[in-house]
Amino acid sequence: MRFDATGKVTLDHIYTQADPRAYFSALRGLEYHIPQLAKPYFATLIEDYRAARQVDVPQVLDIGSSYGINAALLRCDVTMDDLYDRYCDIDSHSRAAVVARDRELVRSRTGSRARFVGLDISQPALAYARETGFLDDAVHADLERDDPTAEQLAQLANTDLVISTGSLGYVGANTLSKVVAASGSPWMAHFVLRMFPFDSIEESLAGLGYETVRLDQVFRQRRFISHEEQSRVLDTLSGVGVDPSGLETDGWLYAQLHVSGPRDSTPPRFFDAFHQANSR
Ligand SMILES: C[S@@+](CC[C@H](N)C(=O)[O-])C[C@H]1O[C@@H](n2cnc3c(N)ncnc32)[C@H](O)[C@@H]1O
Repeated sequence: MRFDATGKVTLDHIYTQADPRAYFSALRGLEYHIPQLAKPYFATLIEDYRAARQVDVPQVLDIGSSYGINAALLRCDVTMDDLYDRYCDIDSHSRAAVVARDRELVRSRTGSRARFVGLDISQPALAYARETGFLDDAVHADLERDDPTAEQLAQLANTDLVISTGSLGYVGANTLSKVVAASGSPWMAHFVLRMFPFDSIEESLAGLGYETVRLDQVFRQRRFISHEEQSRVLDTLSGVGVDPSGLETDGWLYAQLHVSGPRDSTPPRFFDAFHQANSR
């Protein structure tokens, strides 16, 4: 088992397979379900955006979209448990058969009305998400490192909302500022592990005219894979001044939701709730 510099186990191999079976098989045992917990918040934000900006079909950019998991949950109104059941124990199927089943799912179910665009460094995961129709478009880029090409700028140009689960920490201010520069002033909602300080991203967004609120609530992302991973992550948390008592000490990685919007037109429901809670 390999661990990265933050103490988390390295799962890179499951992000770059031709279809999501290895991804869901590996993560089922860890009870990874942050996309499920995030789903109602993303759905609310999309609805609020549609009402506030009167955009019928907003464009949602999922950063670190992988196989289009957030898009599948929102677009097809399925759950993470549905997806675990769907992809585990079908080893004998060809990739074409797995794609065909998912295309049928996309045709037969409707959830949030939005245009979903994924951004990821994994070409195989993006290709799968495009072929199935989970994603309407895909940007294969590492914007932490590179500037977007002219084609990528055009793909990002109409972004209304930016969402992410499990990606910020590895993806950060570089990517978000390039997305804002390409698109204007999208609303954002990011579920970020407590071990990854959000301050530098918040500062960078503030420089672009954004306000960020962090919900007090914490969300279970997944179980630790081993005591060794837990111990390494507890060290990282201590290094960034986060108290893990009663949370990470009990065996789970926890995330928090950060919602950001342009100061002159902030996401109403989240910000109202936040400001009311803080004025009491
Ligand atoms: C832990 S997975 C999360 C996938 C999905 N959002 C979910 O919650 O199931 C992290 C994803 O971020 C992608 N990623 C890592 N570095 C990236 C970068 N610099 N730009 C875009 N995506 C990146 C990985 O390829 C991977 O698909």
